Amino acid sequence: MKRIFLFFILSLVFGFSSFVFSQTEDVQEKESRMSWFADAKLGIFVHYGIYAVDGIDESWSFYNGKISHENYLKQLKGFTSKKFDAVKWAELFEEAGAKYAVLTSKHHDGVAMYDTKMNDLSVVKKSAGKKDIVEPFCKAVRDKGMKVGIYYSLIDWSHPDYPNFTKEKKRYENDTIRWNKFLGFMNGQLDEIATRFKPDLWWFDGDWEADAKGWGAPQIKQKLLTYNPGVIVNSRLQGYGDYDTPENGVPITKPTSPWWELCMTMNDAWGYQPTDKNYKTPNQVIRIFADCIGLGGNMLLDIGPKEDGTIPGEQVAILKELGRWTHKHADAIYGTRTGIPRDWYSGPSTRSKDGKKLYLFIEHKPNGPIVVKGLKNKVATAWVVGTGVTINTQVMMKPWWSSNPGQLYIDVPEDQVDPQVTVVCLTLETALE
Ligand code: GLC
Repeated sequence: MKRIFLFFILSLVFGFSSFVFSQTEDVQEKESRMSWFADAKLGIFVHYGIYAVDGIDESWSFYNGKISHENYLKQLKGFTSKKFDAVKWAELFEEAGAKYAVLTSKHHDGVAMYDTKMNDLSVVKKSAGKKDIVEPFCKAVRDKGMKVGIYYSLIDWSHPDYPNFTKEKKRYENDTIRWNKFLGFMNGQLDEIATRFKPDLWWFDGDWEADAKGWGAPQIKQKLLTYNPGVIVNSRLQGYGDYDTPENGVPITKPTSPWWELCMTMNDAWGYQPTDKNYKTPNQVIRIFADCIGLGGNMLLDIGPKEDGTIPGEQVAILKELGRWTHKHADAIYGTRTGIPRDWYSGPSTRSKDGKKLYLFIEHKPNGPIVVKGLKNKVATAWVVGTGVTINTQVMMKPWWSSNPGQLYIDVPEDQVDPQVTVVCLTLETALE
């Protein structure tokens, strides 16, 4: 009896410790897999596809009945990609300060932007330009030292075995044989992309049209990890992703997931739409970016190239001004972590990984010193990021007998103000409390 009891206790202890071990191992594994992403902060999203020919909604235009499927696909004839130059794109992304770029390899319309062997619906086989877009993109982005992300829509409204065709028309309901045929096709494309382009990040979309079991989400995730043990997957894989993907809206409070990325259009469209002039200003883009990194997230800023492969002037201008700002303030951006809550400082902030530098983003021209409340750490030095000019700080409301940390006032000289967002750095004597 005693022996059985001892055995029972030992197996409980071992069982528990191996459980704890495997849990911590998983956390460590994920943290190391996510580390470049956590440091990267800025990515460029590229919606390039045949929808740029007529300048209409990517895929949704035929799904929502604004154009027939037949006429939608006629855009293939106008898709020349004649000035497409992946190297120029990559140079511009680098200039903007991006550390990764994500390209649509296939949108919900099912048109592959690479030479798929799984069917004939690709720009290589069917468009006027006949060019593989994905291959040179991956090479150019990698040559610049950036990570490669591949957008892939699970939805394929053009595929004869996919259940949904348009909002009004379904091909079938509950036909396991046809659905499995489609899954075979889809998995074939995933295999092609994984082996040919070896993405660092998969950006899935359209997972809402089936559940995890339907897509085989756990199997997909496992497969992609087998191809590349370091791969990262966005959240649109029915619970099997690695990070959160809010779309076109900065979260007000820090999301619960340690990793997240705001994907955002520059105007209101993902793809090229010449009539949409509702562009955010560089100032708005930069401030949204500061909001994201202040809450520990990334920004994936979208561009929609024209059918010939050139990037619209408005978008180039935004990327260039963003780039001026990101390069000047690189220390405050890359590799940083969430800053302090807004009750302590009324703007975005970040801190260095070791917690000894606190970066404060100043969104307006100050008409007096800026203030940080409740900072327990002593400030060793303070300067303006990008110019290196040291600035004065002063602690007020801290009598010698009080444990109250007081108010820290920081001077921002007028001639140091950046035309967009000024950043000051506080070096702390000890890691931020
Ligand atoms: C949405 C849209 C799609 C777009 C994507 C980008 O899922 O369906 O058109 O490509 O957002 O995040």
